[in-house]
Amino acid sequence: MQKYSFYQHFEGWEEFVKRPLGERLPVFFREGRIYDVLFSQQFDRPFLDSLYDLTNRIRRIAKAREGARWLHDLHGHRRAMLYFVQPSTRTFLSFLNACHILGFHTSEIRDPHTSSEIKGESPEDSIRTFSSYVDLIVMRHPQEGFAEKTAWLLNVYSDRPVPLINAGSGSDQHPTQALLDVYTLQRSFEDRGGIEGKVIALVGDLKRGRTVRSLSYLMKNYPGVKLLFAAPPAFQIGEDIKEFLSNQGVPFEEHTSLEPLLGRADAIYMTRIQDEHDKDGKSESQYEDFCLRKRDLAKMKPDAIVMHPLPRRGEIEVAVDRDPRAMYWRQERNGMWIRAALISVIFGSDEEVRTEGERYLSDGSPAYSL
Ligand code: CP
Repeated sequence: MQKYSFYQHFEGWEEFVKRPLGERLPVFFREGRIYDVLFSQQFDRPFLDSLYDLTNRIRRIAKAREGARWLHDLHGHRRAMLYFVQPSTRTFLSFLNACHILGFHTSEIRDPHTSSEIKGESPEDSIRTFSSYVDLIVMRHPQEGFAEKTAWLLNVYSDRPVPLINAGSGSDQHPTQALLDVYTLQRSFEDRGGIEGKVIALVGDLKRGRTVRSLSYLMKNYPGVKLLFAAPPAFQIGEDIKEFLSNQGVPFEEHTSLEPLLGRADAIYMTRIQDEHDKDGKSESQYEDFCLRKRDLAKMKPDAIVMHPLPRRGEIEVAVDRDPRAMYWRQERNGMWIRAALISVIFGSDEEVRTEGERYLSDGSPAYSL
């Protein structure tokens, strides 16, 4: 039986992937429009601002039955495949529902043991097979770089390429999480001059946490932002991210505890210590310096916000949830709307939403309320 192999050979791939990212990115755009969504580095400030405006419009249009019907009609002739072979709750559900908001019919594989991969079909061939039946592939995969490889493969080898969205790739990137994180930051700071100039603390397992990596890349788009990284010594942010931030002129500090940052941060972005990877079974007590408790809230700025990509375990005490600065449940709701807007951009219905969709915005409701 042919074994699973990330390294199944496709002529041209090895040469392609060795090139600098800036030279690879154009392959994943079509006529100036984003096509495959793989890396946070694909998003610039005009794209982010435009996407957030579109997100606000879509969520307002969807509020009324007529608007929701109109949105649902936009892509009723389209089909999407959700290939999630690494566990997910909110990314899977938010993409599924984002597709449904826009009318996509959906199918899914969440366990490769239920597909012909169990017979030895390579994941690459599985993805090519999906492209025979659907118009969009959304992929979560445990292997870093696999989303890029399959997107490249569809573009170069397939006679029916379809767009591919990376919904989390190993410990590498989670670009659509970064989109919803920045959207949440932007809305939270709307009345305080936006994200520019804010101090953002990123806390927890920064080495293996792909959400912090993708979010850090986006910070170059917001002048004056300062990042404060707080992680156990073994899980500090990667050298590649530090090099990127230095090259982009984004100031950052590294710390080994959250406590001294509580009063400095405008946003505290908590993450889970991913000790499921630890072979030596470290106890959670070793990570207490990276937990946010109710008693810590008094030390925070009165208008600072708390974020978390979720899922959480013990790193945010449940009692924190009732504080108005706790933003993480809103943050995860934002994910469905931003993903609907992203899919609309990929399929070119964004202009229609901005023009024809305007008629469903006549209720005078605010653009967005957190
Ligand atoms: N934030 C996030 O990626 O959550 P899931 O793993 O539940 O999708």
